[in-house]
Amino acid sequence: MKFDFPVEHTVQARYSVRTYKETPLSAEAKEQINACIASLSNPFSVGVRFRLLETETAVSSEKLGTYGMIKGAKNFIGAAVPGGAFALEALGYDFEKLILYSTHLGLGTCWLGGTFNRSKFAAAMQVKENELFPAVSPVGYPAPKKRLAESLARRMVKADQRKDWGTLFFKNSFTVPLEKSDTGAYLFPLEMLRLAPSASNKQPWRILQSENVFHFYEAKPPGYSDRAAFDIQRVDMGIAACHFHLAALEKGMPGTFAKLPEPKTELPEHLHYLFSWVPA
Ligand SMILES: Cc1cc2nc3c(=O)[nH]c(=O)nc-3n(C[C@H](O)[C@H](O)[C@H](O)COP(=O)(O)O)c2cc1C
Repeated sequence: MKFDFPVEHTVQARYSVRTYKETPLSAEAKEQINACIASLSNPFSVGVRFRLLETETAVSSEKLGTYGMIKGAKNFIGAAVPGGAFALEALGYDFEKLILYSTHLGLGTCWLGGTFNRSKFAAAMQVKENELFPAVSPVGYPAPKKRLAESLARRMVKADQRKDWGTLFFKNSFTVPLEKSDTGAYLFPLEMLRLAPSASNKQPWRILQSENVFHFYEAKPPGYSDRAAFDIQRVDMGIAACHFHLAALEKGMPGTFAKLPEPKTELPEHLHYLFSWVPA
């Protein structure tokens, strides 16, 4: 397929780029991004609407601002989706695939769910009343050096670190960590999932393996993701599903994501069941 990329290399190459050269995207890059957008589809079967946006000047312009978080970028991608079941997961899945493809093209990106001028971007996106508009990302050529503010932002959320296996992955019960040696061919999809980006680097995904099915849960600390109009961590869960799925497909292991009857297991506080991976 035209929009394929090597999963491990691309997942490892992606990071949140917050400083860009002030060069607009080339016509070729825009074409490639728009073609990828046109090809996107997700296992949650929800249509996500993307738009490649341009600022008139670099992002310091008031029009499409990011409160100083992003510097230099002249192009952004916005994503909106009609509200409904698995809308945010679908958006997370499709947008992350587009971000990984952009990474593969040598472009920088940065998920923004909070630090962007939502009303100005919503006007540029022509967001409709029934739509959720959770995130945008700059897309452009990374500057050779990070700014001090960027390095500080990374340090604040320990952006270079990820939670370890024992915190994220479990076998049959949330009291039993899933051993790497026990995962067989799924070592790779789980490791690719573990390296995914998430809002404030919270990594809310918890996975419970039971026989050959992987159940996806969201860790929802009270007061964190409930404050906004929608739960940004549901986007994180879609991103996790994307990494897991692309890695499984690359290894020739098809399957489907489905909402099953809630698995019968004792749930730690603040964990919520969302969906499961069922191998084909
Ligand atoms: C859904 C989502 C929303 C995010 N929102 C913001 C944001 O508003 N501002 C920001 O600077 N970074 C934001 N980030 C970037 C994360 O902080 C970043 O992905 C995480 O710290 C891991 O770092 P990395 O992307 O460099 O691997 C967001 C990431 C995700 C997935």
